[in-house]
Amino acid sequence: MGQGIVTVVGSYVTDLMSRTPHMPRVGETVLGGPFKMGPGGKGGNQAVAAARQGSMVYMVSKVGDDEFGVYARANFTKEHIITEYVFVNTEESTGAALIAVDDNGDNMIVVALGACGKLTASEVAQASGAIRISTVVLVQLETSTEAVVQTVAAAKNYGVPVILNPAPYHEFPREILKDITYITPNETEACSLTGVQVDNEEDALRAAKIMYDMGVPNVLITLGKKGCYFYNGGETGLLYSGFEVQAVDTTGAGDAFNGGLAYALAAGQELDDAIVYANAVAALSVTKVGTAPAMPTKEEVDAFLVERMR
Ligand code: RIB
Repeated sequence: MGQGIVTVVGSYVTDLMSRTPHMPRVGETVLGGPFKMGPGGKGGNQAVAAARQGSMVYMVSKVGDDEFGVYARANFTKEHIITEYVFVNTEESTGAALIAVDDNGDNMIVVALGACGKLTASEVAQASGAIRISTVVLVQLETSTEAVVQTVAAAKNYGVPVILNPAPYHEFPREILKDITYITPNETEACSLTGVQVDNEEDALRAAKIMYDMGVPNVLITLGKKGCYFYNGGETGLLYSGFEVQAVDTTGAGDAFNGGLAYALAAGQELDDAIVYANAVAALSVTKVGTAPAMPTKEEVDAFLVERMR
């Protein structure tokens, strides 16, 4: 079985992360630390997660003409990610995310997209060759809407399945949903899309049915440590329980899930197995601090699955 080709269209930003004893209230300054800087952005994190599993990954994004842009490219190259379609914008700087992680490992993030928010439809069109030869295309909402729309159109044109991770949620042209193969919202994003507050499996089913009726044949709602609720029509869906681990930093867990899912589908795994695999990638990612740097390797995931599936 080959490892497949994955094209990721989305964000790259520099993550500026500090631990905090508690999340600051409005107007409050909290003494935090330690501070860590690293490569991030949902697109970049998902690309690293897939590449570390063995996918051949094309990254389509945009950085500024600055040191952080150089750092981005160097990091992608170190991860064996193809940077031919990482464009440079001379007017906007490379984006940045301000991340606070508390003692429970939970996070709050403000992301300033900078250059990657300016990715154009015509730049995505330049990457059509990569999309055409891909086994799976993965896109988030952390870039311009025109880039998302063009990605979905190109993938549809070449018959390549698309995973849409609707994160961070903001309004987008809903008609693209009929051309999406898999959608992977978390509870909050599922609620924004459907109006259903997702607190339990029953809610997840209600929300999933609405997304299915919007035209997406495979709905995967990620539920944090509870795992992933999958629905593809019919009376009910199925909960794939998450793996229990000691979480130190949950930032990027959704990205780990999406990158793991893209890899597994591109490598030819059945969807059932791919969801279990993605849950394992997500579980391992929260045992380390950071986002892209915390993504596990395929060897780590395989060893973990052997141990946990005994
Ligand atoms: O999903 C986590 C990511 O969201 C962080 O790496 C940060 O860059 C934000 O974009």
